[in-house]
Amino acid sequence: TQKPEIYKGLVGVYADVSSISKVMPETNSLTYRGYAVQDLAENCSFEEVAYLLWEGELPTAAQLAAFREETASQREITPALHRVIREFPKDAHPMDSIRTAVSFMGLEDPETGDVSEAAQYRKAKRLFAKIPTAIGATYRAAKGLDPVAPNPAHSFAENVFNLVQGRVPEPEVLKAFDVSMILYAEHTFNASTYTARLVTSTGADMHGAITAGIAALKGPLHGGANEAVMHMLKEIGDPAVAKEWLQSRFDHRALVMGFGHRVYKSGDSRVPTMKKYAEKMAEVVGDRTWMEISRILAAEMLEKKNIHPNLDFPAGPAYHLMGFEIPLFTPLFVASRVTGWSAHVLEQQADNRLIRPLSWYTGKEQRPVPAMAAR
Ligand code: CMC
Repeated sequence: TQKPEIYKGLVGVYADVSSISKVMPETNSLTYRGYAVQDLAENCSFEEVAYLLWEGELPTAAQLAAFREETASQREITPALHRVIREFPKDAHPMDSIRTAVSFMGLEDPETGDVSEAAQYRKAKRLFAKIPTAIGATYRAAKGLDPVAPNPAHSFAENVFNLVQGRVPEPEVLKAFDVSMILYAEHTFNASTYTARLVTSTGADMHGAITAGIAALKGPLHGGANEAVMHMLKEIGDPAVAKEWLQSRFDHRALVMGFGHRVYKSGDSRVPTMKKYAEKMAEVVGDRTWMEISRILAAEMLEKKNIHPNLDFPAGPAYHLMGFEIPLFTPLFVASRVTGWSAHVLEQQADNRLIRPLSWYTGKEQRPVPAMAAR
């Protein structure tokens, strides 16, 4: 038979339907359940958006209060997980640590073998509640610090800062962080979300799907880009050398992290909002270096390559200015994206068919197995 058309990287392939989010590259826009992300970012808390992604509608005040109470009361991780975390190598990458911690949460989940939709949804909410606690505990354990106990009175954003940094910052910083969580929450069939759906399609459970999603997110072509962006900005260090640095990347035909996107070719819908809040962080901290280098890189990339920045480009310096260390940036992405991943797990499961594509064979023709002496 004739070689079929191969869609390498699944470029342009519609693999399924989904009612969770919609990317419209023609207008650089993105909606979650019909609401524009920038509208959600300006007007809602991350908890409201998490509820929206799962339930399909924004919560009323009473529903939000109940949701906050339900999730905030589940933030504690077990003494067993704390012990395991203390055994992690001190130089482990926090993405590997959080992947392992989530996998462990699956072992000890009270409904571990139950993949009914109701149980899977409860697992999603437990993961949403516990992931920041695990991020804080792994980060602090690697530094030889005691974990901070989650405070159920804290909002999602306050909780993350408290668990990691042991302090709750001023409202502008909390708002910028919440905006980043909202913008990172969901993005159709990106690599990690599709990974989570693929795992789910076999009938496997929520913790397996999310563990696999975390593994996929770590890569620098995906979520790992937010860390790579800040490493790059630090390497450049000074706006005066930004152009020259970029030219040397061009000369080596090297990737420039935080630029380009599989779906958006004329601008990422999430960038203007994140950039606005990264600028605010630069004002709060009183350090414009990173935004100035960013401005030069973005202008040059557009002029010389016609390539636009993606969300990771402003998110990297924003997290740095909020006081997070670089290896935590992608784990913070996990804390947000677990909402989108799990919404997709539930959607996949509600109308499932095993995901199993074909490969076109290009190896050796069929041949007999030679005897050992003849090889
Ligand atoms: N730096 C330099 N050149 C680039 C970049 C970049 N960041 N992105 C794309 N290009 C070039 C690419 O080399 C190709 O050139 P040519 O046609 O000469 O071979 C052209 O632009 C088209 O790109 P592509 O390779 O077809 O794009 P893709 O859809 O396969 O890959 C991507 C998308 C995101 C993997 C890629 O743009 C990239 O590697 N970017 C850097 C990593 C990054 O920032 N990732 C974050 C992605 S978005 C948010 C997230 O998931 O966290």
